[in-house]
Amino acid sequence: MAKNSHFEGSARLFRALPSSHDDLSERETAAFASPNHSKKGESSVSINPSERLLNLPPQFFADLVGRAEKLRQAGHPVINLGQGNPDQSTPTAIVDALKNAADNPLYHRYIPFNGLFELKRAVADWYLVRYGVVIDPDREVSILIGSKIGLQEISLALLNPGDTAMVPDPGYPDYWSGIRLAGAEMMSLPLRPDLDFLPDLGAWVPSAKLAFLNYPNNPTGRLASPQFLDEVIRLASKDHVVLAHDLAYGDITFDGRQSVSLLSRPGGKDVGVEFTTVSKSYNMAGWRLGFAVGNPTLIRYLDLLQDHLHCSQFGAIQMAGIAALGQPPEALAQLRTLYQHRRDLLIASAAEAGWEIPPSEGSVFVWCPIPTSESAVKFCDRVLRDADVVLAPGTGFGEAGEGYVRISLTASSDQLVEAMRRIGQLMSSSTRG
Ligand SMILES: Cc1ncc(COP(=O)(O)O)c(C=O)c1O
Repeated sequence: MAKNSHFEGSARLFRALPSSHDDLSERETAAFASPNHSKKGESSVSINPSERLLNLPPQFFADLVGRAEKLRQAGHPVINLGQGNPDQSTPTAIVDALKNAADNPLYHRYIPFNGLFELKRAVADWYLVRYGVVIDPDREVSILIGSKIGLQEISLALLNPGDTAMVPDPGYPDYWSGIRLAGAEMMSLPLRPDLDFLPDLGAWVPSAKLAFLNYPNNPTGRLASPQFLDEVIRLASKDHVVLAHDLAYGDITFDGRQSVSLLSRPGGKDVGVEFTTVSKSYNMAGWRLGFAVGNPTLIRYLDLLQDHLHCSQFGAIQMAGIAALGQPPEALAQLRTLYQHRRDLLIASAAEAGWEIPPSEGSVFVWCPIPTSESAVKFCDRVLRDADVVLAPGTGFGEAGEGYVRISLTASSDQLVEAMRRIGQLMSSSTRG
């Protein structure tokens, strides 16, 4: 029996997920349907997308950003709290490292396919200082062009059509894309509010090949305990399931809490790989640099795939990455203080408007129960239309996100307060009406 066949038809299969087919423009869909379709200036040759492309889930954030941008261009004072796009600038020392390296002709050439060894060593040093984990820079680090691509490559490297991967629900939608590209199936691990938004391990699929975890969590803003990770490692070892732990927000934790590295737990490196990024910790989202760290076999598979897909990130950016990882701990402490302050301000402003929002423990998000009886999409549509505020509907992260919206803290304090004022006004006018 195929490893996943007895799960066919289960409600937890992400079958209901729409596909990119729904997103293709009228022109593209028409070309797909009618080979002779032609418009002025366009080829009459029919150009059809692959099944792989058609099966991709819709790019949720692209749609969200597009709608907000249209409103902004029409002159609306849009406040975008829908995306986790850091609003602060990259520290000067990191920018200077890029400038210096950009002047060096060494980096104008192709660099080794697997990236700079000095950067891998910096990642290993960072793991030792940050989490007390010993990493072999040669065999246990892979350099990524942003962690997003690595989170897709792990599915491409491990999954065959028909295999199953577990994803948190709600969860970061890019996990879905890689699984779909691999032609594999997704099963949800529901993050239950009564379990502090940890996955319900009763839903664990022993026949799956891969499971994604993400703590500090996007979108719920919760952290996982060492004991929880130990239990997942136990299950994964027993069932030979690979764990992909997304630690994108590992440096952004609140109220003195600490994130936990999967690799710091006994057996973690035997079953898993961890994905980290400079995007959030050092305000470098546009630079595109991340890392996969962990089990050497998994790292080898990722590197093999990357040998075919890329020729590593620009060397000067990798040199800047070394400067980033060498930033003093105070820089990260300041970042944590900034986001914690914004979180508190947002929650206080929402409370004034009569909206009770529980505090997040980490990440750059607050996960908010919807204050009306509307669905997540309806509520967000109304807030965008009538208050010019972009919020991310919880269902953009999976079915279990219904009843919630995600608010990003990557906007100024003034914008957060103003957004809450506008939403409060909307809520009180709809109560009166
Ligand atoms: C949970 C999570 N993982 C990974 C990423 C990707 O980060 P990057 O590709 O910038 O490294 C993001 C970005 O928003 C994220 O929220």
